[in-house]
Amino acid sequence: MTADSSSEPRTQNTERETYFGEFITHSPEETFALAKSIGEQLKGGETVLLSGELGAGKTVFAKGLAAGLGIEPAEVTSPTFTLINAHDGRLRFYHVDLYRLDDGAHRNLGLEEIFDDEKAVSVIEWAERLSRAPACAVAVELTYVSDCERRVVIVETV
Ligand SMILES: Nc1ncnc2c1ncn2[C@@H]1O[C@H](COP(=O)(O)OP(=O)(O)OP(=O)(O)O)[C@@H](O)[C@H]1O
Ligand SMILES: [Mg+2]
Repeated sequence: MTADSSSEPRTQNTERETYFGEFITHSPEETFALAKSIGEQLKGGETVLLSGELGAGKTVFAKGLAAGLGIEPAEVTSPTFTLINAHDGRLRFYHVDLYRLDDGAHRNLGLEEIFDDEKAVSVIEWAERLSRAPACAVAVELTYVSDCERRVVIVETV
């Protein structure tokens, strides 16, 4: 087994429970499970920035995070027209999709307010469209490898 062929992290911060690293997932279920394990560790106040092309798996990942917060994943769908969906689980879960927004239009959404909510986790699809990354963010970049495989790179941005 190569370093890339499992969903074990390649790099690990041993000082605390952590989920940073580079993973290859081999199915949507594996991406979901990876995200769920991260969702279970979130404490509130985090913003998860999801980036990657169409079909990269951002929504699958968002559903997994939600499941880790005790939210029914089937309720989590891309908030394409509503822009922000809110769900209540162990923490409040804000799900934002910036795909359809014009450049800079997100400034009118009140995102700063949800980023500052210590009792909530905010997840942003198409986060590369944000002009400024929030504090306390976890960036997740999903890349298509093959039909069933995705590279998932998770870093903390400060
Ligand atoms: N390893 C994998 N991880 C995640 N999704 C996968 C994987 N392999 C195949 N898929 C498929 O890729 C698609 C990912 O769709 P998803 O809606 O999550 O993408 P997205 O990044 O949110 O796209 P969009 O930008 O259109 O919202 C699904 O059809 C899923 O079944
Ligand atoms: Mg999506």
